[in-house]
Amino acid sequence: MNSNERGLYKFPFEEYASATELSEQEQNLIHKAREVAQNAYSHYSKFSVGAAVLLENGEIITGSNQENAAYPSGLCAERVALFYASAQHPDVPVKQIVVTALRNQKPIEEPVPPCGSCRQVFIEWEKRFGQPFEVIMAGTRKIIKIKQAGWLLPFNFQSNFL
Ligand code: THU
Repeated sequence: MNSNERGLYKFPFEEYASATELSEQEQNLIHKAREVAQNAYSHYSKFSVGAAVLLENGEIITGSNQENAAYPSGLCAERVALFYASAQHPDVPVKQIVVTALRNQKPIEEPVPPCGSCRQVFIEWEKRFGQPFEVIMAGTRKIIKIKQAGWLLPFNFQSNFL
């Protein structure tokens, strides 16, 4: 490594070739995320994302991306699911979120990483509930699991800066 190694940002993640290597509950979450991706309103991008959120009480909330002719008015699947979960169960922490996607109706082979704005929301949720949650990015040929959502966004903005 070069002289900047001291400042290198590293975090662990797990990689799987198939969902069958995960627990049954995780496989169920992936299935639900794939299913709900079909409900995306992805009229403009044809990129349909499905997210399944497992809450600490065992409840599963799903969401898909919702687009708009005024592009920035749309919302990602992850935030649709997390905001709905919070609206229904404001005091229940999140345990896991699974993200999957279809391009032109076909499931994507590679894991799809959440966008920066969703990562910012993940961090807010970890902080507000005082516990981390796992992110599973599920492609059909590769799945990545990260134990703490906040690891995805180093040098993030938090309420203590306000
Ligand atoms: N999208 C998501 O729903 N989640 C992501 O993490 C990445 C992007 C959506 C937003 C938009 O509707 C479409 O995918 C293309 O960017």
